Amino acid sequence: MQTDFLGTSLSTPLVLASGVLGNNKAILERVHDNGCGLPTMKSIGPAPRDGHNNPTVIDLGDGMINAVGLPTPGYQNMEAEWAELEGRNFPVNASIYGGSVDEFVRVAEFVCAKGPDFIELNISCPNSDQHGMIFGVNAESSYAVVSAVKKVIDVPLIAKLTPAAPDIGAIARACEEGGANAICAINTAGPGMVIDIEARMPVLAFKKGGLSGPMIKPIAVRCVYDIYRSVSIPIIGLGGITTGADAVEIIMAGASLVGVGTAVRYRGITVFNQINKELSTWLANHNTTLDEIRGAAHPDLETAHRRGK
Ligand SMILES: Cc1cc2nc3c(=O)[nH]c(=O)nc-3n(C[C@H](O)[C@H](O)[C@H](O)COP(=O)(O)O)c2cc1C
Repeated sequence: MQTDFLGTSLSTPLVLASGVLGNNKAILERVHDNGCGLPTMKSIGPAPRDGHNNPTVIDLGDGMINAVGLPTPGYQNMEAEWAELEGRNFPVNASIYGGSVDEFVRVAEFVCAKGPDFIELNISCPNSDQHGMIFGVNAESSYAVVSAVKKVIDVPLIAKLTPAAPDIGAIARACEEGGANAICAINTAGPGMVIDIEARMPVLAFKKGGLSGPMIKPIAVRCVYDIYRSVSIPIIGLGGITTGADAVEIIMAGASLVGVGTAVRYRGITVFNQINKELSTWLANHNTTLDEIRGAAHPDLETAHRRGK
């Protein structure tokens, strides 16, 4: 299912969510060969960081809770990864983060020179300039980081949003005004906590963590629905997408591409081919197309508006 996204032709409308499978070429190529149109790299940060202590990820059955803590070698320590990716024959979305606007700019400029096809800003991390408040819960700080990064990169910019924002549509609008070419939503929901009642203490070493997988799908669908009504740039919809029917649902909310993260754990690396097949079968059975169902849950909006994305 060939899909055009911001001028790049993708083999399918499916995107690998950031952080789920790491950063080496072999694994990104494998997901691409298994039906993922756009693999996203694990978020790259400004300095080496170990992340939190174990346990960091717990499977809750209908989703996961994680507090991996954004481990990264730091943008300057990835020469081997970049060298491998140089000769690739598939597109790559490089996710980055920083603790201040300046850090975002520094990482973005450096990473952009390494030749990714897209740069995704993970603005779901705390902003050290604003006493640890998360960038993406505030329209002003979201605008500030997007507009500053936009000036130093020459590939399309994707802003990845957190469902923790009280008005995610307003954040998406600020990102669009700042120059974002697309929105990716959502990052993990929460934070949540799981307590081991025998040990009488939280199970995660970091105590609190982000929720992902099927249990957060209704939040993701609501967020994409709100964003679609607020901006005219395309949306990568993700959060709990596990089946072709889930993909149809988030596309009807307004997504142009569909991200898959936690489902890789539940259905294996072939999950992309499985979802593509289920999606194609659903479309054929309903005698319709992706373009026709995009934003279909907004009957009050103009069809032209829906198709323009
Ligand atoms: C173990 C784990 C690590 C993650 N690491 C990142 C990350 O580095 N950067 C990022 O933007 N999102 C990260 N995420 C969030 C996912 O990219 C995705 O937004 C979220 O899990 C919701 O999608 P899903 O329900 O399909 O997993 C991570 C998620 C998990 C489960």
